Amino acid sequence: MSTPPSTILVVDDDTHVRFMLRTLLRQEEPVLLEAGSAIEALTLLEQHQVDLILLDVVLPDQDGFTVCARLRDDPRWREVPILFLTSLNDHASRLQGLNVGADGFISKPFDHGELLAQVRTIMRLNRYRHLLNEQKRFVRLIQLAPDGIAVLDSQGRFVLVNPALVQLLGVMSETQLRGTPFSAFLPPDGLERYHACMQRLIAKQEQTLRTELLIQNSQGTAIAVELSMGCVADIQGEQVQLILRDITARKQAEAQIQRQLAQLTSLHSMGVAITASLDLRHILARLLENIGNQLGVDACAILLLNQQSGTLELAASHGLDLPDDADLLLHSDEGLAGMVFQAERPLAETQYAQQTWPNPRDRLLATRFASYFALPLRARGEVQGVLELFLLQPFSPDHVWWLYVEALAVQAAIAIHTAMLFEQLQLSSAELTHAYNATIEGWSRALDLRDHETEGHSLRVTDLTMQLARAMGVTGEDLEHIRRGSLLHDIGKMGIPDSILLKPGPLSAAEWEVMRQHPTYAYEWLAMIPFLQQTLIIPYGHHEKWDGTGYPRGLKGEAIPLAARIFSVVDVWDALRSQRSYRPAWSDERTLEYIKERAGSHFDPAVVAAFVRLIGSCCQR
Ligand code: C2E
Ligand code: SIN
Ligand code: SIN
Ligand code: FE
Ligand code: FE
Repeated sequence: MSTPPSTILVVDDDTHVRFMLRTLLRQEEPVLLEAGSAIEALTLLEQHQVDLILLDVVLPDQDGFTVCARLRDDPRWREVPILFLTSLNDHASRLQGLNVGADGFISKPFDHGELLAQVRTIMRLNRYRHLLNEQKRFVRLIQLAPDGIAVLDSQGRFVLVNPALVQLLGVMSETQLRGTPFSAFLPPDGLERYHACMQRLIAKQEQTLRTELLIQNSQGTAIAVELSMGCVADIQGEQVQLILRDITARKQAEAQIQRQLAQLTSLHSMGVAITASLDLRHILARLLENIGNQLGVDACAILLLNQQSGTLELAASHGLDLPDDADLLLHSDEGLAGMVFQAERPLAETQYAQQTWPNPRDRLLATRFASYFALPLRARGEVQGVLELFLLQPFSPDHVWWLYVEALAVQAAIAIHTAMLFEQLQLSSAELTHAYNATIEGWSRALDLRDHETEGHSLRVTDLTMQLARAMGVTGEDLEHIRRGSLLHDIGKMGIPDSILLKPGPLSAAEWEVMRQHPTYAYEWLAMIPFLQQTLIIPYGHHEKWDGTGYPRGLKGEAIPLAARIFSVVDVWDALRSQRSYRPAWSDERTLEYIKERAGSHFDPAVVAAFVRLIGSCCQR
């Protein structure tokens, strides 16, 4: 740690004395402040951080003792060293000086050597005190920091740990951690990442590194953290500083989004299948087609139990072409399929064609196929039916084939179970829509949650965007897409690290680069989901500008989708009127002025005109 040059205040009304001191102290290179009176001295002290005061005893306005006593009374200057400028034999002054708190004396006429020795001693003490203060401040900062902070030695063992980290790691006290390696809190995959980071730091490939990983605290709880690492050199050698930020909440929000995305997708595909046919048979037929293709069997069938009649009915088949004959209907204990159903065990009949079967269905099928395999279809502990596979040629499956078939049977059973549930529930398309909307709203709330200051932002902008869109003549389905798009407009911010998203000040160029990715992230995530194609127009397009200077695509004018042009006005309206970590909230008037000024540059003028009318009519109420 380098110390700044010392600042010395010389207080003497004799300009000759000041000149002498200036000359003598030159080689110490201090910042020299000069005052000719007590008043001037106090003014300078108010304005500067002073390390040493050289004080004359006789001043025009006040005597030096009074000044000294006054400084010692004020906590701001109590610690500043004060040397009196006195003549060598003035014992009375020296005594009085000590009484009012002087640190020493410099004799007039000045002896160069004595002066420098005195000043240097005091300065050294001073620097030491500076360091101590600095260290105290630093330690206090670390103690109070909400992030976990630690210093590790070159072996990766804890040297210094702050209370937040003690808590995060779930240990009793700092002493318990000292000497323990940080790696003790890392599960295997985290450990690998951490070692890789360490190596890059030590090899000086990197000054600081940031990564996200899971740590495991002493209670065995896994905690997601953002880990920043940096090298610090110390007298004890290389050390590494760690900063750990708990990002569990953010990770949970992200995981929730992933889950909901999966739910939404499966809801949707169910919805499509159900509304397209409202028929389980249709779903099963597609499933069998897949099985037939993947297993290379010549035919397959699914028999499902009909609860009312107690029979196994052919629900779907692929490559069977059975005559539509009631004789082929099986009671749930008849035939090979019935056996499999009752026993709940798979069956392999590699000699299918060589035998005479008691059941007419088997007899018929055995004339066509050489091998027969059947598996119970079981989901949630309940057997629903039987999956049958037929091959034209004799076939002896191996272990791996069976594993694969069983996995497929499980998949089929689950699909059947779910589809049946849906059928039972008679899930109408209105209910499905409701389920989507509930999911998207929950999703949007999770997004707002991440950025505390913008809570409710998504709902507010959605409300207003809908009003504006209606005012501009948007109707029907398009309105619904706009609604969902608004709710999810900043979903891409999930990809922006907290350190940037929540930064309490303007962003640096590099941080902007990251921030400007958020519409692209939204596109990358949502584009994969067919039914969100219309929804992603706003998340992807809401930072485009009318004059083409926006991002990420730099679209211009009507090349920007109308929904995005409408939304961007409302987004800026709401953003500016909300307090942000980097600026206070703006008034309605100022914000409206801002938007009007930018009609034709940032915003579509037609949208701004409609917006001004809309806001005007709201405000008059
Ligand atoms: P956001 O806060 O939702 O802001 C949306 C848009 O409203 C901004 O898009 C911008 O057009 C407008 N806006 C918001 N605050 C201000 C402001 O203080 N002055 C002006 N003139 N316009 C404002 P933009 O600029 O593309 O920013 C996108 C996102 O980037 C913002 O979303 C916010 O999350 C973030 N951001 C922007 N500036 C800063 C900043 O200085 N510090 C931090 N930490 N984040 C920022
Ligand atoms: C959000 O995070 O969902 C809203 C943040 C914003 O638009 O400023
Ligand atoms: C800002 O861009 O943050 C402030 C703009 C203004 O004060 O007009
Ligand atoms: Fe945005
Ligand atoms: Fe926004």
